[in-house]
Amino acid sequence: MKVFIARPYHHPATKLLKSKYDVEIWKESTTPPPEIFKEKVSTCHAIMTEGYDHINKEILAFAKNLRIISNRAVGTDNIDLKEATQKKILVGNTPGVLHDSCADFTIGLMLSLSRNIFQGAHIVKSKKWDELNQYHYLGSDLYKKTVGIIGMGKIAQTVAKRCKGFDTRILYFSRTRKLDLEESLGIEWSENLTDLLSTSDFISLHLPLTDDTRHLIGKRELSLMKESAFLINTSRGAVINQNDVFSALEDNLIAGAALDVTDPEPIPKNHPLLTLDNLIITPHIASGAKSTFENMGIMAAKNIISALSGTPMPSCINPGAL
Ligand code: DGY
Repeated sequence: MKVFIARPYHHPATKLLKSKYDVEIWKESTTPPPEIFKEKVSTCHAIMTEGYDHINKEILAFAKNLRIISNRAVGTDNIDLKEATQKKILVGNTPGVLHDSCADFTIGLMLSLSRNIFQGAHIVKSKKWDELNQYHYLGSDLYKKTVGIIGMGKIAQTVAKRCKGFDTRILYFSRTRKLDLEESLGIEWSENLTDLLSTSDFISLHLPLTDDTRHLIGKRELSLMKESAFLINTSRGAVINQNDVFSALEDNLIAGAALDVTDPEPIPKNHPLLTLDNLIITPHIASGAKSTFENMGIMAAKNIISALSGTPMPSCINPGAL
């Protein structure tokens, strides 16, 4: 059977797949163009994609023998799930191996932003440190503050666990109340988004991108936040309305934002957000620790092996496709 891997650097995953299949690897480090994906979905039984590869209806129209799209990511908003399911193509993802790395990174963003670590380092390196004076860099502590977490999946739970170490109060808002986690993590349910937004000092987003969550945070939500509050987004860029976040930051309606994800990615080099001092943007690297990167690849490979051998996949998000 033929497998296409859309990047050249997933060595352990590639080795695993090569031991069983005829494997073809895309040699470039960027996403293959749509024409290549059209060809591969038509000739291969499985493709291993990155969360940034867009597998839309137009591409899936070329699928002939394709049985699985294995996304090396937990998010699958880059794949037309409805179309894949209709065409009986399984879609795999990689939850359960990246939450610790993402949570560490989220805390890193909170601290970098609120304590001006990034800004301070930037000033020193750009040779603008002219005066020994903390006054210009005074920030806000994370410890003993209120952290509002939106979403309460595995990554959010791990962020909550980390935040406990900072003696914070933790509020959460999610579709379903999770009494067991309230007990075990010491977190508090916020019945509505408004309460969480108006009470929290740090707001961290941990949601998949769906029709329901697109632009969840816009002008109204930002206006409910405290002037001293920080917004952290490590989920998907389109969960926030970037234009509204730009206005809120420019007008100092909130204290700052840290975005590991933007819409689009990479963000255009002339984007107005890049002009702001109270904003940190990182290039979608929250899960990017070496061992996590490899483990996600291995899980994606195992999803392919299971799907092609007809055994239960480690993580399939559309089992109904069968
Ligand atoms: C994920 O796993 O969804 C990360 O955001 C990488 O795409």
